[in-house]
Amino acid sequence: MTKLRIGLLFGGRSGEHEVSITSARAIATALTQGDNLHKYQLVPVYIEKNGIWQGEETAQQVLNSGKPLISENPNLKQIWQFPPQVTEVDVWFPILHGPNGEDGTVQGLLTLMQVPFVGSGVLGSALGMDKIAMKIAFAEVGLPQVKYMAVTREQVWSNPCVFPKLGDRLEETLGYPCFVKPANLGSSVGIAKAKSRDELETALDNATSYDRRIVVEAGVTARELECAVLGNENPKASVVGEISYKGDFYDYETKYTDGMAQLLIPAPVPEQIITQVQEMSIQAFEVVDARGLARVDFFYNEATGEVLINEINTLPGFTALSMYPQLWAASGVPFPELVDRLIQLADRQ
Ligand SMILES: Nc1ncnc2c1ncn2[C@@H]1O[C@H](COP(=O)(O)OP(=O)(O)O)[C@@H](O)[C@H]1O
Ligand SMILES: [Mg+2]
Repeated sequence: MTKLRIGLLFGGRSGEHEVSITSARAIATALTQGDNLHKYQLVPVYIEKNGIWQGEETAQQVLNSGKPLISENPNLKQIWQFPPQVTEVDVWFPILHGPNGEDGTVQGLLTLMQVPFVGSGVLGSALGMDKIAMKIAFAEVGLPQVKYMAVTREQVWSNPCVFPKLGDRLEETLGYPCFVKPANLGSSVGIAKAKSRDELETALDNATSYDRRIVVEAGVTARELECAVLGNENPKASVVGEISYKGDFYDYETKYTDGMAQLLIPAPVPEQIITQVQEMSIQAFEVVDARGLARVDFFYNEATGEVLINEINTLPGFTALSMYPQLWAASGVPFPELVDRLIQLADRQ
């Protein structure tokens, strides 16, 4: 049997470059386990932080070391010179988190290549990335979510007489605490919790350095639940997990410092909450037109029993310890089988 050549595309031009390398290492290992060894051949392709694509030899080196590599004296024209092995790939497996990877940019390129790839296409990826567009899509199917307002950089930078009015409107509509977020980032980068007008203004100003589009949300006191979805048509939801952490909110440091956050699988919540989260996850997956995989995150207010959707991630963290594969492992799909199923679900978009 000829093996299917899997183009594992990792690294990428985003703040989550290192996480991508760790995810890719886990997937590369899974491709050699059990039946996968006889079905698949790994073709690693690494995107440096500066956007330059590196072929098998360098990519394998990065996979082995687990460390990013940056070529010296890069010629940025090289960005559009793909390594020759790109033409040999039968199915792409992009495992790039955040902007320039999870947002539809790479998915557009793979679509143009006319080769099947794992995960969402351009639309699903873009809607899953932009927190404002995502909320509009969620609202369309009546998914409950926190109160929010979309703000542009232009509004924040507008003349000094207009800015206070914006502050007034945000304060009246959302109150404190509120969360200020760049619309197109991940890993909590650029997110601030504001408890006063001063903090709100600083947070808005800071968010404009990351993105043209900003979302401000009413802060809720809630537990955080996550659910994994797998499939194309008739997607399935996994068991539900909970993120438990010390600290004010699930910020960058909490996410990436060992021991600061804990995954509870299954989440210790009532059965009816589990069912609700699973149903809402499928609805969210379908309304953004996600394909293959996604992790859907929720706020659960224990006191009121209310479940609000927070966001969908179309290329969630995929390290051996990440929530997405762990949720599937707890649902009876071990890591190597999950990788196999995702490859089977890949289609030409
Ligand atoms: N409206 C909110 N109320 C309470 N906590 C929030 C709110 N929005 C975000 N958070 C906290 O900030 C974290 C990161 O926000 P999130 O929107 O998930 O951004 P990211 O896409 O970077 O993960 C959440 O996991 C949660 O701890
Ligand atoms: Mg999040």
